Amino acid sequence: MIYDLIVIGGGPGGYLAAERAGQAGLSVLLFEKRALGGVCLNEGCIPSKALLNSAKIADYAKAGKKYGVIAENVSIDHQAVVKRKDKVVKTLVAGVSIKMKKNKVTVVNNEAVIRGRSTDGFVVRAGEEEYTGKRLVIATGSVPSMPPIPGLHEGYGKGYVLTNREILDLAEVPGKLVIIGGGVIGLEMASYFNSAGSHVTVIEMLDHIAGPVDREISTILLNSYRKKGVDFRLSAKVTGITDKEVIFETKDGQQSVPFDKVLVSIGRRPAIEGIGLENIGVETERGRIPTDGQMKTNIPGVYAIGDVNGVSMLAHTAYREAEVCINDILGKRDTMRYNAVPSVIYTNPEVGCVGETGETAKEKGLDVEIVKLPLTYSGRYIAENAETDGILKVIMNRKYRTILGVHMIGSYASEIIYGAAMMIESEMRVEDIRQIVFPHPTVGEVLREIMWEL
Ligand code: NAI
Repeated sequence: MIYDLIVIGGGPGGYLAAERAGQAGLSVLLFEKRALGGVCLNEGCIPSKALLNSAKIADYAKAGKKYGVIAENVSIDHQAVVKRKDKVVKTLVAGVSIKMKKNKVTVVNNEAVIRGRSTDGFVVRAGEEEYTGKRLVIATGSVPSMPPIPGLHEGYGKGYVLTNREILDLAEVPGKLVIIGGGVIGLEMASYFNSAGSHVTVIEMLDHIAGPVDREISTILLNSYRKKGVDFRLSAKVTGITDKEVIFETKDGQQSVPFDKVLVSIGRRPAIEGIGLENIGVETERGRIPTDGQMKTNIPGVYAIGDVNGVSMLAHTAYREAEVCINDILGKRDTMRYNAVPSVIYTNPEVGCVGETGETAKEKGLDVEIVKLPLTYSGRYIAENAETDGILKVIMNRKYRTILGVHMIGSYASEIIYGAAMMIESEMRVEDIRQIVFPHPTVGEVLREIMWEL
């Protein structure tokens, strides 16, 4: 049989592309070498949220007195947390499998390699079998970056150096956890293991955490976690790992921290190796597959979506890219836009960001006005929070009075930020937003209130 579409990789990008193509009546074959749902569902977004929710419950219980709630001897039963996490993952993976069946997608649980072309299309091999598809979607995702730090690879082999995959399945909470990289994964894991009782040290190369996040917000986050007892070593370069210590250099010279486990979370790189791209001439550029606005690669009929194209390595970006690519295959006009892709860090407090920051606006030479309000402008925020250092920041295009960026730290930021993305995506002006009625009392109301500061 010749399939209309072959999808390689069953993460959020791949499985959604398969689902949408199946819905439209195309015959679809999906290859997944590990588990449906990919990194997001099995060892990323979802399992980490299960862990972080347990941490949040424990944090609230520990701080219960501030809210008039007495909870004694609060602790995290890590094994029970991991067991619950496994159940959540199992339920959701089964859900993806059901969706594939419903849309008549054939799923092959095997590693696929592109072999070449035939007169009928692209030939893909998995195990002993060969399959042909008229079109190809590459959605192989990404793998953790493992820098050539002396001792790191050896430590990974011996099991004391971990990536996001292994850390989610630890049988016990490590007494001392050292995290290399203060980005999204590092901060979310620092958050859980700090609440679960580890002594956490984060070693970050830059002088700030959370990478591209608005600097004022990343400083609030840093201070909040310092207060909780996380030890941050900034502007620090890791130079080696022994079986007991991580060695690093700062301007004060060489230092070291002891560990029981080390997490490496210094970013991810597109998974482009071993899939046979060279057999059909798919171009790569600096370790990623470049794509156009319709997710097309340089080879007609071949698309690349999700982390593998390296543009915006987020599950929700992959979802949208999947839809754009399938629309292109179906002959419907659609274009991928990246200017209003929200990003969230699920720490406590949460961080939600979308669009330009003050820094990126300046780099691009945009004429903007930036305003900020404390979240204490929200009655609900004050009613619910003992710690009240949350803020909301808006970046406005001065000429058109449209919103270019919204950045927030505080409760519900993860759920509020898509509203801001809608404002940016639909090019709403400040005056348009002022006319929207927001529910009261909510933390999101501050987003309405701030429009009167512009
Ligand atoms: P990241 O890019 O977010 O952060 C990596 C951090 O490591 C940066 O702060 C960087 O300066 C630092 N770093 C790089 N090399 C270093 C070195 N040698 N020593 C010390 N620090 C070093 O990458 P991360 O946290 O690994 O996450 C990977 C991907 O997963 C990202 O693309 C992220 O968007 C995604 N992700 C998204 C989540 C979310 O949306 N909530 C949650 C977790 C991951």
